[in-house]
Amino acid sequence: MASEKLMNLLNQAISQELSASIQYMWHHVMAIGMRSPEVRDKIREISIVEMKHAEKIAERLDYLGGVPSTKPTPIEIGTNLEDIIQKNKAKEEGAIKLYRDIIKVASDEGDTTTRLLFEEILSEEEEHHNDFSTLLEGS
Ligand SMILES: [Fe+2]
Ligand SMILES: [Fe+2]
Repeated sequence: MASEKLMNLLNQAISQELSASIQYMWHHVMAIGMRSPEVRDKIREISIVEMKHAEKIAERLDYLGGVPSTKPTPIEIGTNLEDIIQKNKAKEEGAIKLYRDIIKVASDEGDTTTRLLFEEILSEEEEHHNDFSTLLEGS
């Protein structure tokens, strides 16, 4: 069975995903008129991926007997395009750090399913981090 520690980490991950999803969707709305449609579409696309991550992690936590959080971590809204992308990039860095910790704890506890889930999500967060880094270079 999953430890209290691991279940708390999964809830932190859910809060992180909810926050990223809302932050990016608002940035997508705000970025209208600021820049090419490709940038807006990319931010929107990633927002939806983050909501799917929240869903998968919540399903896993529910299976383990926990109660999924509905509270996002603080949402950082940017004031211009560069600021928006910078804040999104920082959000990805936070996720990457947290998910590396979760993979280690899940591995130590022999929870292969949770470890595999977070390995998959981590690789997508690294892609997002790379996407935002690339957009920042072009902004
Ligand atoms: Fe995510
Ligand atoms: Fe992400």
